[in-house]
Amino acid sequence: MRIRVLGSAAGGGFPQWNCNCPNCDGVRKGTIQAAPRTQSSIAVSNDNINWLLFNASPDILTQFQRFPELQPGRAIRDTAVRGIVLMDAQIDHTTGLFMLREGKTPLNIYCTDMVHEDLTQGNPIFNVLSHFCGVSWHQIPTAVGSTFQVEGIEGIRITAVPLSSKAPPFSPHRHDPHEGDNIGIQLEDLGSSKKLFYAPGLASIEAHLLPFMQQADCLMVDGTCWTNDEMQALGISEKLSLDMGHMPQSGPGGMIEALRSFPEARKILIHINNTNPILREDSAERQILLQEKIDVAFDGMDFSL
Ligand code: MLT
Ligand code: MN
Ligand code: ZN
Repeated sequence: MRIRVLGSAAGGGFPQWNCNCPNCDGVRKGTIQAAPRTQSSIAVSNDNINWLLFNASPDILTQFQRFPELQPGRAIRDTAVRGIVLMDAQIDHTTGLFMLREGKTPLNIYCTDMVHEDLTQGNPIFNVLSHFCGVSWHQIPTAVGSTFQVEGIEGIRITAVPLSSKAPPFSPHRHDPHEGDNIGIQLEDLGSSKKLFYAPGLASIEAHLLPFMQQADCLMVDGTCWTNDEMQALGISEKLSLDMGHMPQSGPGGMIEALRSFPEARKILIHINNTNPILREDSAERQILLQEKIDVAFDGMDFSL
């Protein structure tokens, strides 16, 4: 199974259009050692012909241009994308769907009831798309351990795991969390039995996630903020990382500490906010990740399991 990181940044991307934090200002001016990043999404394939997208970021057209495998050019209109799995209904994971409206057949979209509700009510992307290509919705069941497969993506079994993060601000139930607002995904290559666990939004590692994380050959998890008050400390926002449904990396109870329980797995942080010091390749925080054997995803990162 091949995994391609199309985008590795959190909402807003890196640099963010209106942000002059040291990271955004530095990357714009070329004065820091850091690479720009588009908003988070990965593509997965088992045959290098048919691809499954996880999330549709507002940067999707740029991401397609940078990864020509997604356009095999077999017909006057064509795509290698067989389906799109949505991990939540957030803007940075869904609004790229608008850019795919020219599809000749309805988009095959896999998401939970809760995400479907948000995308037909709070931000009715699916209703708008019904006037273009339309949406063929495949419901992701949220019961722990329920599995599904996507037509055309042979040999990859997908298991959805409900997890604690946050429904988007426009959700009819933003302050009343429901199972299925956010999911993690286990991808299993049925040939090699290798497993990826992918969770770009993760507020806490609850007990039911542990078996999935223990089984994983690769953990690709929430890398949004280094500290809980990162945005407050920069005077950017009152929001705490945990308020937004993202577990910070440092400190007691942080992601680094949690990841130590999985010594065998390759570990990769994704969905990195532009304020996060780990974006600077020469930062002390990046050095800590190096010691912990935790990688930082970048756009174009490509590996097989
Ligand atoms: C999040 O992950 O918390 C959201 O995507 C942030 C945003 O896009 O505004
Ligand atoms: Mn996000
Ligand atoms: Zn910034």
